[in-house]
Amino acid sequence: MISIKNEKEIKLMEDVCKIVAKFYELLEKEIKPGISTFELDRRAEKIMRDLGGIPAQIGYDPGIKGVPPYKHATCISVNDEVIHGVPIKNKIIKEGDLVSVDTVILKNGFNGDAARTFICGGKTSKDAQRLVDVTKAAFYEGIKYAKPGNRIGDISHAIGEFVRANGYSVVQEFEGHGIGREMHEAPEIPNYGKAGKGPRIEPGMTLAIEPMVIQGKHNILELDDGWTIVTEDGSLAAHYENTILITENEPKILTI
Ligand code: MF3
Ligand code: CO
Repeated sequence: MISIKNEKEIKLMEDVCKIVAKFYELLEKEIKPGISTFELDRRAEKIMRDLGGIPAQIGYDPGIKGVPPYKHATCISVNDEVIHGVPIKNKIIKEGDLVSVDTVILKNGFNGDAARTFICGGKTSKDAQRLVDVTKAAFYEGIKYAKPGNRIGDISHAIGEFVRANGYSVVQEFEGHGIGREMHEAPEIPNYGKAGKGPRIEPGMTLAIEPMVIQGKHNILELDDGWTIVTEDGSLAAHYENTILITENEPKILTI
C-alpha cells in the first residue's frame, strides 16, 4: 500500500524536508581536505540537531540477518564507494574527492531523505565532474515523469536510459522508495526498468528518487562492515537524491 499524505501530513513532510535542505547548505562548508569522514559525520549530526532535526539513520535496523543496525547520522561514500559509506576516523578526505553524503532527518514523526555528491575543494577531474553532473541530471530526467497518469516504471525507465545514454551504469541492488512516517515505504523505485509498468503515480505520494550511478560497470561489492557499498571495478560513483511530493501538476522537490 502506498500512503497518500493528507494536507496536514504534507505540511509536516515539507517542514522536515526544509531542514534537510538547510542541512546540506551548512554541511557543504565543512567538506575540506584533511577532514575524516568520522569528523564530518560528527559535524553533520550537530548541524541537524541544531536545526531541530533528529538523525533518523542512527539505530536504523534494516532487519537483515548479520547486518548490524546503522550507527551514524550520515552515510559518507568517497570516490569508488557508492552508498552507505560508514564514517571512519582514518578515512581522510582529499582535494578532488567525490564525497557522497546521504541522510534521513526525522521531525514530528515524518522523515526527509536526500543525498548529494560533493567535490572536495570544488575541483576534480573532467571525468569525475561529468559523472556528478549526469547523476544529478538523471534525477531531473526521472521526475519529468513523476506526475499523475504515469507509473513508477516511467520514472525508473527515464533514469536508467539517461544514465546508459551517457555511458554510465546504475546500481541495480538499491533503489528509491516511498517515504513518510517510515524512512522506507512503498513503492520501490528502481533506477532502471520498463516504462508503463509499476504502480500508478497519485497526488499526495511522497517519494525519494535517488539515482546511484557508476562510471564503469554496474557491479558492486559490500565491505566487511556490512554496510559500505563499493564499485567492483574500482571506478567512481555518485549519488543524488531528493524527497518529492506528487501534485496534480509538476512534482514539488521538498529537499531543495
Ligand atoms: N538514506 C538512505 C536512503 O536513501 C538509507 C540509508 S540506510 C541507513 O534510503 F542505515 F543508513 F540509514
Ligand atoms: Co533514500
